[in-house]
Amino acid sequence: MEHDLNAVWLARVGLAMLAFAGTVRAAPAADAVRGRAIYASICSSCHGLDGIGNLEYVPSFSKCEGLNKDSATLHTSVRDGVGGRMPP
Ligand code: HEC
Repeated sequence: MEHDLNAVWLARVGLAMLAFAGTVRAAPAADAVRGRAIYASICSSCHGLDGIGNLEYVPSFSKCEGLNKDSATLHTSVRDGVGGRMPP
């Protein structure tokens, strides 16, 4: 009997964890889809749809150029622009 109760409890926790993992993952997936759309409409003209820069001086994201910085710095770069060539 005790054995059965353990099985029920474990199954419940397992289901709860699966549900939780589902909600945790759902949001970033939606953000990624939105981010992709924004990137395609605004950023891809210079950085390319595949992340390969279209202009000589544009860093190539496909080679991680320009991305080896902490998130706060990258956030500022995208918000404020860089060196008058990357627009805010
Ligand atoms: C008009 C062309 C242009 C557009 C549009 C553009 N970028 Fe850039 N981006 C550049 C150039 C040029 C650089 C390199 C700037 C430099 O180092 O002088 C750059 C650099 C970057 C960097 C590296 C930042 C750093 O600190 O070196 C990131 C990240 C970036 N762009 C993201 C984006 C995102 C995200 C968008 C869309 C929201 C975007 N760019 C739109 C031209 C552009």
